[in-house]
Amino acid sequence: MKPPRNTFDVLILGSGAAGLSCALNLPAGLRVAVLAKNGIDEGNTQWAQGGIAAVLDPGDDVESHIEDTLDAGAALPDRDVVTRVASEGAEVIAWLERLGMPFTRENGKPHLTREGGHSHRRVVHAQDATGAALETTLLKTARARKTLTLLDDHTAIDLITTRRLGEHENRCVGVYALNRDSGHVEVFLARFVVLATGGASKVYLYTTNPDGSTGDGIAMAWRAGCRVANMEFIQFHPTCLYEPRAKTYLITEAVRGEGGRLLLPDGTPFMHRYDPRGELAPRDIVARAIDHEMKRLGLDCVYLDISHKPAEFVKSHFPTIHARCLEYGYDITRQPIPVVPAAHYTCGGVMVDAHGRTDIDRLYAIGEVSHTGLHGANRLASNSLLECLVYGRAAAQDITARLQEPVTLPDVPEWDESQVTDSDEEVIVSHNWHELRQTMWDYVGIVRTSKRLERALNRIDLLKREIDEYYGNFRVTHNLIELRNLVVVAELIVRSAMARKESRGLHYILDYPEPKPGKPENTVLTPEPPPPYGHPDGA
Ligand code: FAD
Ligand code: SIN
Repeated sequence: MKPPRNTFDVLILGSGAAGLSCALNLPAGLRVAVLAKNGIDEGNTQWAQGGIAAVLDPGDDVESHIEDTLDAGAALPDRDVVTRVASEGAEVIAWLERLGMPFTRENGKPHLTREGGHSHRRVVHAQDATGAALETTLLKTARARKTLTLLDDHTAIDLITTRRLGEHENRCVGVYALNRDSGHVEVFLARFVVLATGGASKVYLYTTNPDGSTGDGIAMAWRAGCRVANMEFIQFHPTCLYEPRAKTYLITEAVRGEGGRLLLPDGTPFMHRYDPRGELAPRDIVARAIDHEMKRLGLDCVYLDISHKPAEFVKSHFPTIHARCLEYGYDITRQPIPVVPAAHYTCGGVMVDAHGRTDIDRLYAIGEVSHTGLHGANRLASNSLLECLVYGRAAAQDITARLQEPVTLPDVPEWDESQVTDSDEEVIVSHNWHELRQTMWDYVGIVRTSKRLERALNRIDLLKREIDEYYGNFRVTHNLIELRNLVVVAELIVRSAMARKESRGLHYILDYPEPKPGKPENTVLTPEPPPPYGHPDGA
């Protein structure tokens, strides 16, 4: 039996803050589908803790938010983009309030917390579980919309573009996606396709991200012919709980914002030696300082301490973290907790314009998958959810304005499985997953050298060849799709890192320890044109 074909006006890949805010800003009558490869609420958004940056306090102003973003981003962010995003903050927060988002309040107004790099209290939040509250609010609204189809357990494999179908003009018309329940690859066709697939931090062995952050959207867009920018800027969050049983558990920067101190094992504070802002310096500086102290003293971790604050204050601000740490035997109201940096956020991504349009007509990218120009060399805390909401709305508005444009959907071939069989060696997938992530952690981490990058690239080349061969011979599985994307992302990170001959923001390389003088530039990588379907390298 032929797998079904699914046709929509707008197909959104990703059900996080970016994808859902785009869906909810589209006209209610459109046929819209939102695909998620795992559970519908299982992306990074669900895990966000600290909050959403927005200028709401009368004592704050948009100009300060702009300057803080430019400063954290080491002068690389695009000032126009920063100005636009900072200016729209209050509007998107008001929209969320109308949807019923349960922001923590004080004296009738949203409470504002503080995070590294912000010169004011500027971060709205729902206690220490802002992402879960946001995802729940957006999903509840989405579920009430009859013309919106939410499909979980569908892993997009590749974009379908007219160039690959042999046409001269290139536009995106859909995707091939693995239905994980049926095991079949289905064709999804749409007048507009939106990538909202999140980041790629899973390419590192240690990360704050959930399992699905494998950079699928970046790899799919790259294979389809889109440019990708600034992939060398991978943000390491300074404070992930150092506890093997926790796998990955972030301790929000708001803990430092509310007075938490970073300490060596003997209780000595150290951040003031690295930056006058101490614990509230931007994230790249704090993560590098911790990394340096750990290497200097041969430590497994450093400590984060907020136990000097009243216990009631700590419990009411950080109830989730308090409860979670207790499960591992740490009471944050009474003792410091062990922390280490871990890969957290992909600052680069698919290049887009002010509407979220990519290089391919009718293909948009929004949220962590994209490179808008907001973050530059290092993202300012809590600017990510803000960017998701601003660009989710911008893409929806642009699509709405283009709905009158005539478009016919072409005849698209079924997914071809005639040349493949079931895998007889799944171990190759699990082995290569581990090897790739270990390589990235060891050679492409917080502190880099040209030699380590070369080593990493050699290994990635080998892995890529092996994975491509495997992909060509065996039926696709969810894990294989992710691994095929991860290796592409790893290569993009390393090639971008090799191209930047300076240290700036999150890219710190011992061979070029200083920033280059003059106006900094983005690292832009341009792919080879993709092969047509039916070609040995094609899908
Ligand atoms: P996500 O929320 O990651 O959603 C990605 C979606 O794409 C998922 O639905 C996934 O299933 C789907 N998807 C991926 N690949 C495919 C595929 N191949 N086929 C189909 N679907 C696919 N930022 C802040 O601004 N403030 C914070 O306080 C904050 N705290 C954070 C705490 C943690 C622990 C983490 C990990 C991140 C935090 N961030 C924070 C960053 C922020 O959460 C993310 O950048 C943001 O949520 C990304 O949203 P998104 O919509 O782009 O992607
Ligand atoms: C945190 O709560 O520390 C994460 C905030 C962010 O990633 O912006």
